[in-house]
Amino acid sequence: MRVLITGITGFAGSHLADYCLERGGIEVYGIVRWRSRTENIEHIEDRINLLECDLRDATSTREVIEEIHPDYIFHLAAQSFVPTSWKAPTESLTTNVIGELNIFEAVRKIGLGCRIQLACSSEEYGMVYENELPITEDNPLRPLSPYGVSKVGQDLLGYQYFMSYKMDIVRTRGFNHTGPRRPPVFVCSDFAKQIADIEKGLRPPEMYVGNLDAKRDFTDVRDMVRAYFLSLEKGKSGQVYNICSEKSWAIREVLDMLLAMSQEKIEVKVDKARLRPSDVAILQGDCSRFKKCTGWKPEIPFEQALRDVLEFWRNR
Ligand code: GDD
Repeated sequence: MRVLITGITGFAGSHLADYCLERGGIEVYGIVRWRSRTENIEHIEDRINLLECDLRDATSTREVIEEIHPDYIFHLAAQSFVPTSWKAPTESLTTNVIGELNIFEAVRKIGLGCRIQLACSSEEYGMVYENELPITEDNPLRPLSPYGVSKVGQDLLGYQYFMSYKMDIVRTRGFNHTGPRRPPVFVCSDFAKQIADIEKGLRPPEMYVGNLDAKRDFTDVRDMVRAYFLSLEKGKSGQVYNICSEKSWAIREVLDMLLAMSQEKIEVKVDKARLRPSDVAILQGDCSRFKKCTGWKPEIPFEQALRDVLEFWRNR
């Protein structure tokens, strides 16, 4: 079987490549942009196939898909950091929505019958009221950031291509995930790296934070990529699935858990630059549709994921 992972050099993409190689019997292909950083896949570089492509360019996208002829496409490449989407909304929407459109058009025009997984996001739910929890796939989509809007665009484009052309598309709405290799702009990795830097004496014992009242539903990335794979093995074409732990943690609790893993006495300071024009207050999902369809359940406890993130930064 041939698998194409867009975003293979990124956090989830590199873990998905690891997972495919561990399973065996899978030829792993990935696309990279000129000058992409490849540190996340250096350990497997001789076991995967990398092709140069920019998904914003329809010609380049069509050429690589035609060359690879994948059975499965996992579409993970994206501008994935919410704050960047306020600073660069055009770039975020173009990369996320037009990049996906170029994949769909390439697959359609080549006439490939491959399965396509779309890594959509819980950020699409955005404004969720207390009486709407836990969030099922039928909750209204009320995105609160350009990033959230771009993911609604990707999600609904997937629905439309399934309906219009019967393309074999499965949408996953992944809730927050963390683990080793997570870039240090995302909250768990950000806090963990600050702690590791303080322990190494690289900075004073001060931790900068944003909105600690927000609540998020966290899954370890290794459980998340297993779910992505299962979504194409067992998921129903045209369907959308939440993938989450069904528990939520206040970011304040995440901070306290990480601080408790260190011996350092650290002062916590709010950095106003880390506050967002509108932050999603709570995300806590209902995963029953996906569990029923695939038998998936998360195996790595959140505390372990946090410990692994901290160890990752301590060893860097
Ligand atoms: N990054 C960051 N840094 N976030 C902070 C900080 C900080 O210092 N302090 C508090 N937060 C809060 C944010 O305001 C937000 O409420 C929460 O921590 C999580 O922030 P992120 O880790 O940046 O993730 P996100 O929830 O905005 O988005 C992530 O999850 C989505 C799925 O729900 C990303 O991984 C998205 O790509 C993904 O789609």
